[in-house]
Amino acid sequence: MTILVTGGAGFIGGNFVLDWLAGTDEAVVNVDKLTYAGNLDTLQGLQGDTRHVFVRADIGDRDVIGRLLAEHKPRAVINFAAESHVDRSIHGPGDFIQTNVVGTFNLLESVRAYWNELPADDKATFRFLHVSTDEVYGTLEANDPPFSETNTYEPNSPYSASKAASDHLVRAWHHTYGLPVLTTNCSNNYGPYHFPEKLIPLVILNALNGKPLPIYGDGQQIRDWLYVKDHCSAIRRVLEAGKVGETYNVGGWNEKANLDVVKTICSLLDQLQPRTDGQGYAEQITYVTDRPGHDRRYAIDATKLARELGWKPAETFESGIRKTVEWYLANQDWVKNVTSGAYREWVSTQYGA
Ligand code: NAD
Ligand code: DAU
Repeated sequence: MTILVTGGAGFIGGNFVLDWLAGTDEAVVNVDKLTYAGNLDTLQGLQGDTRHVFVRADIGDRDVIGRLLAEHKPRAVINFAAESHVDRSIHGPGDFIQTNVVGTFNLLESVRAYWNELPADDKATFRFLHVSTDEVYGTLEANDPPFSETNTYEPNSPYSASKAASDHLVRAWHHTYGLPVLTTNCSNNYGPYHFPEKLIPLVILNALNGKPLPIYGDGQQIRDWLYVKDHCSAIRRVLEAGKVGETYNVGGWNEKANLDVVKTICSLLDQLQPRTDGQGYAEQITYVTDRPGHDRRYAIDATKLARELGWKPAETFESGIRKTVEWYLANQDWVKNVTSGAYREWVSTQYGA
């Protein structure tokens, strides 16, 4: 048997593919366009492994995706591919509409054509799992309950609006055409292979390089953090036992203010690789202009996934963040390769001099 994964050279997709093949012999066809966020170094450990077939392609390319589906006959498609960075969506929303909305539409059409032709038994067991985000629900006030699956969609950034649109398309392809879909809406991930334009890896690397640790606004915005491998285990569980047509919220029950996250990273680095001048890394914290339209708080109620499918995260924030900092300290070669050309351009666009 085979699954087809899109975006499997990115942060979460890459972790998913590595974990999948560490736990089963079921082959993976990995389709990724290799944008600035896609990185084959993440998959280096799979070189020569015949269970992994990597194909550089756009999810919106119906010819290529149709051919791959016909050739490999996957029992499931898991869609990680997306433009994923909120700040980039503010600077240039076009790519987000193209991949997250138009790309998802084309992928759904390719998959629908394939699924329609499957023998009855395979048709019944096939699944299309769409990986989405908690940002589609908008923002919370300090005392609001966390997002449940029945919250209304109120996306506030070009990124979250494009993800919301993709979720709606997935839902409609189930209701209208019967495509057996599952959707997961997850909170902020962190862990190995995270591209260092996102808060946690950016702060670890800037700290080590003696650069400012940029805090948007007052740093009191709250995110719910989930260790990436826990997200991967949730996706495996939903794929295995999720009810067709349902959505499942995935979260870590770890609400933290950004400033506290940054201070935690600083104190871990103080222990693991202290500054040579005797100062703490927190000295490098710098307040910068806030993100336009910055959502104040996200929090996920993951009760449904726990109650119906028995999933819970294995890591606490404390254990996960320590593993993450240790991973970046031990994997400087991976870091060096991703922090080249395109990355430098982004840093100067976003943070100026
Ligand atoms: P990422 O930006 O690290 O990786 C995205 C991958 O998709 C890259 O490898 C990129 O090359 C590929 N890609 C982009 N456009 C493509 C296209 N048109 N065709 C084929 N491949 C394409 O993103 P991530 O953080 O790994 O997120 C993966 C998914 O999970 C996204 O759908 C994102 O919305 C969702 N998500 C992310 C988080 C998070 O905290 N990172 C949380 C919840 C949900
Ligand atoms: O909530 C899930 C989402 O989490 C995913 O859907 C997105 O794909 C993913 O990128 C992430 O979005 P965020 O915008 O929450 O992540 P980011 O790491 O960009 O920012 C986390 C918080 O830190 C946010 O409140 C903005 C703030 N921040 C970020 C950067 C890069 C800073 O204060 N300074 C920074 O330099």
